[in-house]
Amino acid sequence: MNINIQTVNPCKHASPALVIGCFEDAHNELIDACDAALDGCMGRLKSTKEFNGKANSTYLIHTLGRLPSERLLLVGLGKKSELTVEILRQAAGNAVQVLRKARVATFATTLHLTGDSNAALEAVVVGTVLGSYSFELYKTKDKSERFSFESMTVLLPKGADMKSAHTRISRAEIICQGSTLARDLVSQPGNVVTTGYLANVAKDLAEHHGIECRVYEQAEMENLGMNALVGVGKGSAEPPRLIVLEYHGVNAKGRPVVIVGKGITFDSGGISIKPGAGMEEMKTDMAGGAAVLGTMAAAAGLKLPVNLIGIIPTAENMPDGKSFKPGDVLTSMSGSTIEITNTDAEGRLILCDALHFATQYKPAVMVDLATLTGACVVALGHEASGLMGNNQRLMDALKGAGERCGERLWQLPLWDEYGEAMKSDIADLKNAGSRDGGSITAGWFLKQFVGTIPWAHLDIAGTAWGDKSRPYSPKGATGIGVRLLIEYLESR
Ligand code: BES
Ligand code: MN
Ligand code: ZN
Repeated sequence: MNINIQTVNPCKHASPALVIGCFEDAHNELIDACDAALDGCMGRLKSTKEFNGKANSTYLIHTLGRLPSERLLLVGLGKKSELTVEILRQAAGNAVQVLRKARVATFATTLHLTGDSNAALEAVVVGTVLGSYSFELYKTKDKSERFSFESMTVLLPKGADMKSAHTRISRAEIICQGSTLARDLVSQPGNVVTTGYLANVAKDLAEHHGIECRVYEQAEMENLGMNALVGVGKGSAEPPRLIVLEYHGVNAKGRPVVIVGKGITFDSGGISIKPGAGMEEMKTDMAGGAAVLGTMAAAAGLKLPVNLIGIIPTAENMPDGKSFKPGDVLTSMSGSTIEITNTDAEGRLILCDALHFATQYKPAVMVDLATLTGACVVALGHEASGLMGNNQRLMDALKGAGERCGERLWQLPLWDEYGEAMKSDIADLKNAGSRDGGSITAGWFLKQFVGTIPWAHLDIAGTAWGDKSRPYSPKGATGIGVRLLIEYLESR
């Protein structure tokens, strides 16, 4: 969608649809002016309770020549004193979903005028771009019925600072491109997004942004002793890989931030095979890796003044005669030995080698993102990602970033006592305990590989994929992690 700006009185602007934000408890001049032009229609909608301005409500009306715009889309914002950027993002997302249904491809918006200028503008752009997402690559029929948005015109009052508005819009667009890249990769099926495909996306991205990329192939990983990562990939025809991207911001000083993303391109469970029902969703098991790719692209696109390293261990977890199996013992790169008690606990295995590898960069902080445990979905549902780590300051900073951008986190403890469940009779650790505290024992396992580096782990199993549509995240891949990490990096 093309986004442009015009400084014009909304009541004088002609477009197929004009989007207006309405509070449930406050009026503004724009609404009064529109209401007068429409002979009191808006007042009527309020008195009949058809549209009351509550958050997440919308109402589309035809203006029949009474205003230059053909339609007015009223979008509820709730109480004026309770307005947040999240409400604006949701309002903008709701608006584009209504416009999509009505097949209105070009529209003008005034939603941002209800909030604090630049932050509100960014929220409206983010809600609009992410809310208008749809993945239709494999829909080959009814191409003529297909709909895509053309343009949104942001209306600003005369004399507004156009330059800062433009900057803020392109910033939001770059961030959304990162989230969209992550969504596309997660939406794509496992027969397309293989470990080699992810490596190629990383190489293309690096070339496009002028950043460094190195892909470690299986033999190199074996030489480095990454037997946990290599072990998980053993049953697949597609070899495992370790993708490393390095972005060095201009004038960026100090130790790097390292982000690590789980890149299981399909998780069948391996020899400890999963039940068939819902197994197709396991194509999303590389959502952490996708978030790392999206974040690297956005950080480079925004020219953030940081040193950022993105690491993606990637493999396909499949049953085969060559697969790793329960009872096997793998020696990880750190030297710790791991008894395999369940091949479906594969994420922690590829991550433990990647995290140990990452410590060589002497990072200022490390953050990993992984669709790691079904237990996290049981605990938090789809409303928050699980947050664990060894450094409260880092976790608080991430939690704050999550609240600001709408990708919320909820902390779980990593007390030593949880480690009891991960003790093996024959090796240093086992890879799976009982079901009890499953997200925490997985996090505790990872903690054994990060040394003293400030580290946080985000379990995104419940937040990477939406089984229902949300205001600015239509059903399917959410692109979780990209906006969160960019918000965090900018706040450092
Ligand atoms: N990729 C899954 C976790 C998952 C579940 C992600 C649901 C998204 C939605 C992970 O590899 C897994 O299978 N975890 C096991 C761990 C268990 C065997 C200790 C689980 O959660 O059941
Ligand atoms: Mn698994
Ligand atoms: Zn998995």
